[in-house]
Amino acid sequence: MAQEGESLLLKRAESIANELLSIPKEEEILIVSHLDADGIAAGSILLHALLDSGANPCLRIVKQLDVGTIEEVAKSSSDFVVFVDMGSGQKTLLEKLRNKENDKNKNKEIFIIDHHQPEPPEMEFEINPHMFGYNGSNDISASGTAYLVAKRMSSTNPYISQLAIAGALGDLQDRGERASLVGLNKAIAAEAESKGLLKTKLGLKLYGFESRPLVHCLANTIEPYLPGLSGDEGACLKFIKSLGIDPVKADGGWRSQADLSNNELRTLLNGIIKYLISQGLSSKEAESVVGTLYIFPNEAPDSPLRDAREFASSINACGRLGKYGLGISICMGDRGQALEELKQTLQEYRKTISRYLNWIQTNNDSIKILPYVQAINGGTVVDDRMIGTIISITYSTKPFSLEKPIIGFAMSEDCIKVSARASQNLVKKGVNLGTLIKEAAEKFGGTGGGHNIAAGGQIPIGQEEAFLQYLNELISKNIGEGHAH
Ligand code: C5P
Ligand code: C5P
Repeated sequence: MAQEGESLLLKRAESIANELLSIPKEEEILIVSHLDADGIAAGSILLHALLDSGANPCLRIVKQLDVGTIEEVAKSSSDFVVFVDMGSGQKTLLEKLRNKENDKNKNKEIFIIDHHQPEPPEMEFEINPHMFGYNGSNDISASGTAYLVAKRMSSTNPYISQLAIAGALGDLQDRGERASLVGLNKAIAAEAESKGLLKTKLGLKLYGFESRPLVHCLANTIEPYLPGLSGDEGACLKFIKSLGIDPVKADGGWRSQADLSNNELRTLLNGIIKYLISQGLSSKEAESVVGTLYIFPNEAPDSPLRDAREFASSINACGRLGKYGLGISICMGDRGQALEELKQTLQEYRKTISRYLNWIQTNNDSIKILPYVQAINGGTVVDDRMIGTIISITYSTKPFSLEKPIIGFAMSEDCIKVSARASQNLVKKGVNLGTLIKEAAEKFGGTGGGHNIAAGGQIPIGQEEAFLQYLNELISKNIGEGHAH
């Protein structure tokens, strides 16, 4: 299937690129994309390609595709709208933008570039890997899919393949051996590598491990989250010393990776793995701190944008904190003022995460553990843009278990935002959060969807408890009685 699927997928990419190129240059093309790393990267890929082709694009980042987004898009003067990292699961909503007589603004030409589980009918200008036999949660992201279209419009742009890689890593698609990209992502990475835009090697997936002081690397690492170490330099200093490694050089400066002997490096690695296991992570999970590093050689050695995972968490931080313009500037290549602002944003992002995690730890009422599902209710405390990040981080920490899905709730404007994550093991057992969340949200008058491993939705205020109980029932039927924990 993949072979035949690949040529059909590429054909679709080409026909969408041709259609976009045929739009009269004076017409504005509105790109609407999602606020996370993959969404911002994917939207920016199209922005690059459309600008390179002389078109007149405008990029808008949104929390989700809902009635409010549709109403705003309907009001825009653009007759051409490209939905990126969204749309395939919300066809009914999109219909509201088309074929409405007597209302010119609602008769728009719609494009969808997405990787979420699609619902029928397939649209003429829709590209989604699921429609061609691929899995959009690990073979290719929205950024990768946008790249397939964009490279037919702008073959020499150096940013677009790097953004495709950052987007895939932002969506945690590094599911191959030693945290490597697989499927179409792997092919995109190979292409970038052959052009000198990417280097890969094995290493510790710690923040700035190439160049920064060890203490900072540990304390600043958020993905993977190191319980008890992330965000706490004092604890990291103690931890490094406890391994018998001196964190300080003879001249008083901090030691970084380059200052360690091979023996010390091994001790550090084993120490981190043991520590993570002692914090309740499985050995497989703990060992995943070692993996394939994806490096952008054109970025400065001490830049947070040099390591593709850090690039992804940087733009994710911009999106989750609502600094969409900053995220886009970074993706468009601004390495002046934007890079300075980014450094501050990353600090703010880390602080925000620690604040929420402390709040959860001291507010046991926010945690609910049922036989087949567990949840954190962030109420009005956790920003609805951050709840997904928070449950991803806490999922592998106590008292949560990777044996059942984790759900997050947070108050949104006039509804409850739902976020959901499953472990790879649960997905292997047949759990599909995309369909589960959709079914449960729709039962309570809400909407939802996504991927098997990560999904989200919106439900009416006050329905959190009933939604969770219903989900518990659905999952118990889904994975069977024998697996309760
Ligand atoms: O909309 P989109 O597909 O880009 O978003 C998927 C979201 O799910 C991302 O924010 C990604 O980080 C998250 N994710 C996760 N755990 C996984 C896979 C994805 O938290 N295993
Ligand atoms: O918001 P969060 O990071 O939890 O979203 C997880 C995944 O679910 C993302 O891929 C997001 O695009 C998707 N989602 C969706 N429909 C919704 C809400 C989220 O497809 N209504």
